[in-house]
Amino acid sequence: MRATTFAAFAFALLTACSKESDTAATGALRVGFSQIGAESGWRAANTASIKAEAKKRGIDLVFLEAGGKQENQIRALRSFIQQRVDVIAFSPVVETGWQPVLEEIKQAGIPVVLTDRAVAVTDESLYECFIGSDFVEEGRRAARWLAEATKGQGVVVELQGTPGSAPAIDRKKGFEEVLAQHPGLKIAKSQSGDFTRAKGKEVMEAFLRSPEGPSITALYAHNDDMALGAIQAIQEAGRKPGTDLVVVSIDGVKDAFVAMKEGTLNCSVECNPLLGPQLFDVVEKLHRGETVARRIQTEEGMFTREQVTDAVLAGRQY
Ligand code: AHR
Repeated sequence: MRATTFAAFAFALLTACSKESDTAATGALRVGFSQIGAESGWRAANTASIKAEAKKRGIDLVFLEAGGKQENQIRALRSFIQQRVDVIAFSPVVETGWQPVLEEIKQAGIPVVLTDRAVAVTDESLYECFIGSDFVEEGRRAARWLAEATKGQGVVVELQGTPGSAPAIDRKKGFEEVLAQHPGLKIAKSQSGDFTRAKGKEVMEAFLRSPEGPSITALYAHNDDMALGAIQAIQEAGRKPGTDLVVVSIDGVKDAFVAMKEGTLNCSVECNPLLGPQLFDVVEKLHRGETVARRIQTEEGMFTREQVTDAVLAGRQY
């Protein structure tokens, strides 16, 4: 056995033993969670769901936020190995670049659960389960709604999510797949607004100022926050969002419901952020040594402004 292999093996063994005694000493299951950041209303609801569910179950949650940076997430994951947590969970900011750190976690014998976003790795055994939405289908739903609402005619601009992230890649793919069947709907401009309200506004301002600006009839935003920023830009440019410029986005957060009630947002495709209960069901099963499903998909709906009454708005959870 090579020295490095032996060292890794010894470390894994040591980790496994100390992990058990840590849990036994405190009685609580320790989970390390690396969150992307706080870029959107969706993310805030997701963080709240995870923290509340851990508290409810008496789980010792080590929660670290990465400010939207992959290097901070990798650092957090390594710190979870050092802290010998029982399970590691994270929502990866981008799809690629995770294989080396996931291999380190595997060597340490700690199971990994992915929530919200997937990773691209060649070894599927590097994580136990992925809990989250079907982002491609969300993109398709947005396009199907747009095609119907516009009778397949219009000049569309697109605000993409964070470059390299699973939702930005998949929501674009699903949207374009459906749009290909509607030659009267063309994407005139497409740029990242990084899933934030401020960036969404800034990029939409630039779209409206461009030569294509006056001809834009529809906006597709990969999340509600970017759509809400863009709605402000559209209003400031003297145009009417929801009426002469149709807006469709993804998430279904409460602020989007407010905009739909006001008539400035036409449609929001739901992406459920309340993943805490499903995550900790999986975590507890793994800790008991039970097998878990490789893929758990969240149930989601879709909302148009016609459906948003005062009662619907009041009952919206996040
Ligand atoms: O990964 C989910 C996406 O990330 C949400 O749609 C977006 O709002 C968030 O920032």
